[in-house]
Amino acid sequence: MAAPLPGMTDRLLEAMAQSAARRYGTERVSELAHALQCADLARRAGADEELTLACLLHDVGRFAVDQTLIADRVGGGQAGGRGHHEVGADLIAPYVPERVAWLVRMHADAKRYLCSTEPGYHATLSSASQHTLTLQGGLMRPEEIARHAAHPWLADALRLRRWDDLAKVVGKETVPLAAWEPLLRASFR
Ligand SMILES: [Fe+2]
Repeated sequence: MAAPLPGMTDRLLEAMAQSAARRYGTERVSELAHALQCADLARRAGADEELTLACLLHDVGRFAVDQTLIADRVGGGQAGGRGHHEVGADLIAPYVPERVAWLVRMHADAKRYLCSTEPGYHATLSSASQHTLTLQGGLMRPEEIARHAAHPWLADALRLRRWDDLAKVVGKETVPLAAWEPLLRASFR
């Protein structure tokens, strides 16, 4: 049974606001700046609302849940824990359209997919992102690549992933978190 609607949106907005004080892994931007830049890139590229919301929320597993549960943290994750993409997707899945939670869940596998299929992609990643690739399962086997390639939402997952990779620009101006509140409230059921 889903919790009352205001509970989860308020919890996420609060966690996002507080994530302004948290560094995005070893990158030089905050968790909040990263989320806002990722959503901004999606909106400017004409992404639909579900994909844009997934961009905004793709890293909720990094700041809206207990980090002792997370396996793929730079500097040592929890042995036997789960990836931040899995835990974050599970957190929002009861409330959002299936595609939004799927895209959040896929954003680590999208990196694995691109590293496995696109020559030169791995070299474009930050060293932190290259490091967590190993923690997230490393390269994909051919059968795994084929299974993902057949998924109708894979192209969206790859778009999210590329915006995710670009959303690390120090000092870049974005709309404030409050500008996303209407979309968040409208999307959570
Ligand atoms: Fe990210």
